[in-house]
Amino acid sequence: MVKKICCIGAGYVGGPAMAVMALKCPSIEVAVVDVSRPRIDAWNSDRLPVHEPGLDAVVRACRGRNLSFSSDVDRHVADADIVFVSVNTPTKSRGLGAGLAADLAYWESAARMVAAASRSATTTGKSKIIVEKSSVPVRTAEAMERILLAHGGGEGDDAAFHVVSNPEFFSEGTAMRDLLCPDRVLIGGRDRDAVRALVDVYAHWVPEDKIVTTTSLCSAELSKLAANAFLAQRVTSANAISALCEAVGADVSDVSRAVGMDHRVGGGVGGAFLNAGVGFGGPGFHRDVLRLAYACDCNGLPEAAEYWRQVVAMNEYQKSRFVRRVVSSMFGTVAGKKVAVLGFAFKKGVADTRDSPAIDVCRGLVGDRAHVSVYDPAVSEKQILRDTAAKVCVARDAYEAAEGAHGLCVLTEWDEFRTLDYQRIFDGMQRPAFVFDGRNVVDVGKLREIGFVVYSVGKPLDPWLKGLPAVA
Ligand code: UDX
Ligand code: ADP
Repeated sequence: MVKKICCIGAGYVGGPAMAVMALKCPSIEVAVVDVSRPRIDAWNSDRLPVHEPGLDAVVRACRGRNLSFSSDVDRHVADADIVFVSVNTPTKSRGLGAGLAADLAYWESAARMVAAASRSATTTGKSKIIVEKSSVPVRTAEAMERILLAHGGGEGDDAAFHVVSNPEFFSEGTAMRDLLCPDRVLIGGRDRDAVRALVDVYAHWVPEDKIVTTTSLCSAELSKLAANAFLAQRVTSANAISALCEAVGADVSDVSRAVGMDHRVGGGVGGAFLNAGVGFGGPGFHRDVLRLAYACDCNGLPEAAEYWRQVVAMNEYQKSRFVRRVVSSMFGTVAGKKVAVLGFAFKKGVADTRDSPAIDVCRGLVGDRAHVSVYDPAVSEKQILRDTAAKVCVARDAYEAAEGAHGLCVLTEWDEFRTLDYQRIFDGMQRPAFVFDGRNVVDVGKLREIGFVVYSVGKPLDPWLKGLPAVA
């Protein structure tokens, strides 16, 4: 019977995942621990370090009841029946596999710490379940087993530890909804009792038919990388079609809807991860596609690696294609011209800019000596300046960003950009006034009626833009 759960790593994944677990399992004590004291202090304050709709209410309901945040890592690890490992695994910035492989330094130090803190478990005869929650390269769990074994963890039925993989699939901005009603919970592991114990925890709120246990450690790990890579590839396929749509006069929204209505592609509902745009961003997609490619390379599969690398290459192409379209439309030069950028987050509903396509688009425009003015409803000025090396201005609203501009780019699909007073924006802009919609959010017909020259990714080209010399 599981009484105590500990989670190492109070980050984007561990914090929300454990808060929901505590909410749904009132009989289990859940302790989230972290080496970073400021992070723990923030979790114990009114200003949580992770912003997700609904998270504050869940933490408020459980903190002090059966949810705690602590920097006393050793004690909580030693006491727990189940230890989730949810530490950061950034991409290596130097050495072998730089830019591709995961830096497993935090993860290994957590594994060693679990081994040391739990040595007493061997003497009490009670085995611990170690759950790999972080997004990790394939076969990391096996390495974890070896570390624990090397520290005297025992083997087989007598083992003091059983390692289980249980990757997390929630999306930013909808974490609570995804955690409360997951499409599936994946649990991979060798020890049946350990897997069963974790199933029993999730069964407090997840229907058992959504808890998938027929998977090995390695398959569970690979499923996480593959899921992100498939989604990224799907978006990229729509983006590749968008380029052809512009060339032949088709509309990518119609094509995506038609493709997605095939139940084999979009479950019959259409549109699912088939929305073309300025390119995908966020902390997961780019990272996991490259990790998958790296795993293929390391296993002597260069053709498979190349296939996945092409997803990233196409995403880069989509971003640079957008910048080229802006420059070529504005008579081949943006030098000295003000260009407004609406939206800087990698998707709507979040303040996160990690790997946001807006960063590359701004870089491209600034590189061509445009004066870029950015507005985003959620991202702080400090963050925008940090991401662009302070080479852009930050505006307080969309109207200020667009005032006096020659062109306006929409780079995040925030709902408020659909309902702006575009007549007011037009009145304040230079002539001709260009709109470049990287997210298919504006009403193209309405804006053309106002007088804008409008480009929208994957839509039939504005007659005004046809025949303009391209820029390479
Ligand atoms: C993703 C996965 O969806 C999630 O399962 C995983 O656990 C973490 O990575 P997230 O990064 O939060 O989640 O964002 P997601 O909603 O998947 O969007 C990723 C990027 O793709 C965004 O830049 C988004 O704008 C873009 N996107 C998504 C499109 O361009 N078109 C689409 O149709 C869908
Ligand atoms: P993720 O998005 O995977 O949750 P984050 O970077 O948001 O990643 O959070 C990971 C957390 O793990 C950080 O707060 C970091 O301080 C913590 N951490 C890293 N290594 C250890 C460790 N050995 N022991 C405890 N906490 C750790």
